[in-house]
Amino acid sequence: MKRLFFALWPNVVVRKQCANLIQNLDNGQGKTVQPDNLHLTLLFLGHLPVEKEIALMQETSLVVVPEIKITFNQISYWKKPGILCLTTTETNRELIGLVDQLTSIARKLSIRVDDRPFEPHVTLLRKVNGVAALEFDTIDWQSSSFCLAESFSHVNKVEYQVVENWGIR
Ligand code: 2AM
Repeated sequence: MKRLFFALWPNVVVRKQCANLIQNLDNGQGKTVQPDNLHLTLLFLGHLPVEKEIALMQETSLVVVPEIKITFNQISYWKKPGILCLTTTETNRELIGLVDQLTSIARKLSIRVDDRPFEPHVTLLRKVNGVAALEFDTIDWQSSSFCLAESFSHVNKVEYQVVENWGIR
Protein backbone atom coordinates (compact mmCIF):
# COMPACT_ATOMS: atom_id res chain seq x y z
CA MET A 1 0.00 0.00 0.00
CA LYS A 2 1.23 3.46 -0.82
CA ARG A 3 1.13 6.35 1.63
CA LEU A 4 -0.37 9.11 -0.47
CA PHE A 5 -1.25 12.78 -0.37
CA PHE A 6 -2.33 15.50 -2.76
CA ALA A 7 0.01 18.48 -2.93
CA LEU A 8 1.28 21.50 -4.79
CA TRP A 9 4.94 21.27 -5.67
CA PRO A 10 6.94 24.52 -5.93
CA ASN A 11 8.60 25.67 -9.13
CA VAL A 12 12.39 26.12 -9.18
CA VAL A 13 12.27 29.79 -8.12
CA VAL A 14 9.94 29.23 -5.17
CA ARG A 15 11.91 26.17 -4.09
CA LYS A 16 15.07 28.29 -4.05
CA GLN A 17 13.34 31.07 -2.08
CA CYS A 18 12.11 28.54 0.48
CA ALA A 19 15.53 26.89 0.68
CA ASN A 20 17.15 30.30 1.37
CA LEU A 21 14.61 30.96 4.07
CA ILE A 22 15.35 27.58 5.66
CA GLN A 23 19.07 28.42 5.71
CA ASN A 24 18.31 31.69 7.50
CA LEU A 25 16.01 30.01 10.00
CA ASP A 26 18.28 27.08 10.72
CA ASN A 27 20.04 27.45 14.04
CA GLY A 28 21.14 23.83 14.14
CA GLN A 29 18.39 22.66 16.47
CA GLY A 30 15.60 21.54 14.17
CA LYS A 31 15.59 19.25 11.15
CA THR A 32 15.53 21.13 7.87
CA VAL A 33 13.25 20.02 5.05
CA GLN A 34 15.35 19.15 1.99
CA PRO A 35 14.62 21.42 -1.01
CA ASP A 36 13.31 18.52 -3.15
CA ASN A 37 10.83 17.64 -0.41
CA LEU A 38 9.27 21.11 -0.11
CA HIS A 39 5.54 21.04 -0.85
CA LEU A 40 2.14 22.32 0.15
CA THR A 41 -0.10 19.48 1.29
CA LEU A 42 -3.64 19.79 -0.09
CA LEU A 43 -5.04 16.61 1.41
CA PHE A 44 -3.38 13.79 3.30
CA LEU A 45 -4.84 10.39 2.35
CA GLY A 46 -2.72 7.86 4.22
CA HIS A 47 -2.15 4.27 3.08
CA LEU A 48 -4.40 3.23 0.21
CA PRO A 49 -4.89 -0.15 -1.43
CA VAL A 50 -4.23 -0.18 -5.17
CA GLU A 51 -7.94 -0.39 -6.14
CA LYS A 52 -8.62 2.80 -4.20
CA GLU A 53 -5.63 4.48 -5.79
CA ILE A 54 -6.92 3.61 -9.28
CA ALA A 55 -10.42 4.87 -8.48
CA LEU A 56 -8.89 8.02 -7.00
CA MET A 57 -6.88 8.69 -10.16
CA GLN A 58 -9.98 8.24 -12.33
CA GLU A 59 -12.05 10.66 -10.27
CA THR A 60 -9.20 13.14 -9.95
CA SER A 61 -8.72 13.34 -13.72
CA LEU A 62 -12.15 15.07 -13.83
CA VAL A 63 -11.16 17.83 -11.39
CA VAL A 64 -11.24 21.37 -12.74
CA VAL A 65 -7.76 22.65 -11.98
CA PRO A 66 -7.66 26.35 -11.06
CA GLU A 67 -4.88 28.86 -11.50
CA ILE A 68 -3.64 29.45 -7.96
CA LYS A 69 -1.65 32.42 -6.67
CA ILE A 70 -0.66 32.43 -3.03
CA THR A 71 1.40 35.03 -1.24
CA PHE A 72 3.12 33.48 1.75
CA ASN A 73 3.71 36.38 4.10
CA GLN A 74 4.20 34.77 7.51
CA ILE A 75 6.36 32.22 9.32
CA SER A 76 4.42 30.27 11.92
CA TYR A 77 5.50 27.99 14.73
CA TRP A 78 3.02 25.17 15.32
CA LYS A 79 3.69 23.74 18.71
CA LYS A 80 1.92 20.38 18.46
CA PRO A 81 3.64 19.06 15.34
CA GLY A 82 6.77 21.05 16.30
CA ILE A 83 7.23 22.70 12.94
CA LEU A 84 8.14 26.06 11.50
CA CYS A 85 6.14 26.70 8.37
CA LEU A 86 5.32 29.31 5.78
CA THR A 87 1.74 30.49 6.05
CA THR A 88 -0.43 33.28 4.73
CA THR A 89 -2.82 35.77 6.26
CA GLU A 90 -4.73 35.87 2.96
CA THR A 91 -7.71 33.70 2.07
CA ASN A 92 -7.35 31.92 -1.22
CA ARG A 93 -10.62 30.85 -2.79
CA GLU A 94 -9.14 28.88 -5.67
CA LEU A 95 -6.97 26.88 -3.29
CA ILE A 96 -9.88 26.16 -0.95
CA GLY A 97 -12.04 25.22 -3.93
CA LEU A 98 -9.46 22.70 -5.11
CA VAL A 99 -9.11 21.17 -1.65
CA ASP A 100 -12.92 20.93 -1.40
CA GLN A 101 -13.06 19.06 -4.71
CA LEU A 102 -10.37 16.62 -3.58
CA THR A 103 -12.01 16.13 -0.19
CA SER A 104 -15.33 15.29 -1.88
CA ILE A 105 -13.63 12.70 -4.07
CA ALA A 106 -11.92 11.10 -1.06
CA ARG A 107 -15.18 10.98 0.88
CA LYS A 108 -17.04 9.51 -2.10
CA LEU A 109 -14.45 6.71 -2.18
CA SER A 110 -14.71 6.24 1.60
CA ILE A 111 -11.15 7.39 2.15
CA ARG A 112 -10.85 8.79 5.64
CA VAL A 113 -9.57 12.36 5.68
CA ASP A 114 -8.85 14.99 8.27
CA ASP A 115 -11.93 16.85 9.58
CA ARG A 116 -9.89 19.83 10.68
CA PRO A 117 -10.10 22.93 8.50
CA PHE A 118 -7.51 23.22 5.78
CA GLU A 119 -4.61 25.48 6.75
CA PRO A 120 -2.28 26.09 3.85
CA HIS A 121 1.33 25.79 4.93
CA VAL A 122 4.75 24.78 3.69
CA THR A 123 6.78 23.01 6.35
CA LEU A 124 10.33 24.40 6.50
CA LEU A 125 11.78 22.88 9.68
CA ARG A 126 10.66 19.99 11.86
CA LYS A 127 11.46 19.10 15.46
CA VAL A 128 11.73 22.73 16.55
CA ASN A 129 10.67 24.02 19.92
CA GLY A 130 10.28 27.73 19.49
CA VAL A 131 9.36 30.50 17.17
CA ALA A 132 12.03 32.30 15.18
CA ALA A 133 11.65 36.00 14.48
CA LEU A 134 12.83 36.76 11.00
CA GLU A 135 12.22 39.52 8.50
CA PHE A 136 11.75 37.99 5.10
CA ASP A 137 10.52 38.84 1.63
CA THR A 138 7.09 37.39 0.95
CA ILE A 139 7.04 34.39 -1.37
CA ASP A 140 4.63 34.40 -4.33
CA TRP A 141 3.71 30.84 -5.17
CA GLN A 142 1.88 30.40 -8.50
CA SER A 143 0.58 27.10 -9.63
CA SER A 144 -1.45 25.74 -12.51
CA SER A 145 -1.20 22.08 -11.55
CA PHE A 146 -1.33 19.77 -8.55
CA CYS A 147 -0.15 16.26 -7.91
CA LEU A 148 -0.63 13.01 -6.06
CA ALA A 149 2.56 12.19 -4.17
CA GLU A 150 3.86 9.16 -2.31
CA SER A 151 5.72 9.38 0.96
CA PHE A 152 8.57 6.95 1.74
CA SER A 153 10.07 6.65 5.18
CA HIS A 154 13.72 5.65 5.26
CA VAL A 155 15.84 5.09 8.37
CA ASN A 156 16.86 8.68 8.82
CA LYS A 157 14.90 10.59 6.23
CA VAL A 158 11.67 10.88 4.37
CA GLU A 159 11.35 11.07 0.62
CA TYR A 160 8.45 12.13 -1.58
CA GLN A 161 7.80 11.12 -5.17
CA VAL A 162 5.20 12.56 -7.50
CA VAL A 163 2.91 9.75 -8.71
CA GLU A 164 0.75 11.79 -11.09
CA ASN A 165 0.32 15.43 -12.02
CA TRP A 166 -2.81 17.24 -13.27
CA GLY A 167 -2.68 20.63 -14.95
CA ILE A 168 -5.08 23.20 -16.35
CA ARG A 169 -6.68 21.86 -19.52
P1 2AM B 1 3.11 18.88 6.31
O1 2AM B 1 4.48 18.51 6.71
O2 2AM B 1 3.07 19.88 5.24
O3 2AM B 1 2.27 19.26 7.49
C1 2AM B 1 3.25 13.84 3.59
O4 2AM B 1 3.39 12.91 4.59
C2 2AM B 1 2.73 15.15 4.11
O5 2AM B 1 1.39 15.00 4.55
C3 2AM B 1 3.51 15.64 5.30
O6 2AM B 1 4.55 16.45 4.88
C4 2AM B 1 2.47 16.36 6.12
O7 2AM B 1 2.42 17.66 5.63
C5 2AM B 1 1.20 15.68 5.75
N1 2AM B 1 0.79 14.68 6.75
C6 2AM B 1 1.48 13.65 7.18
N2 2AM B 1 0.77 12.94 8.08
C7 2AM B 1 -0.41 13.54 8.20
C8 2AM B 1 -1.58 13.30 8.95
N3 2AM B 1 -1.68 12.24 9.76
N4 2AM B 1 -2.60 14.15 8.82
C9 2AM B 1 -2.52 15.21 8.01
N5 2AM B 1 -1.44 15.49 7.26
C10 2AM B 1 -0.40 14.67 7.35
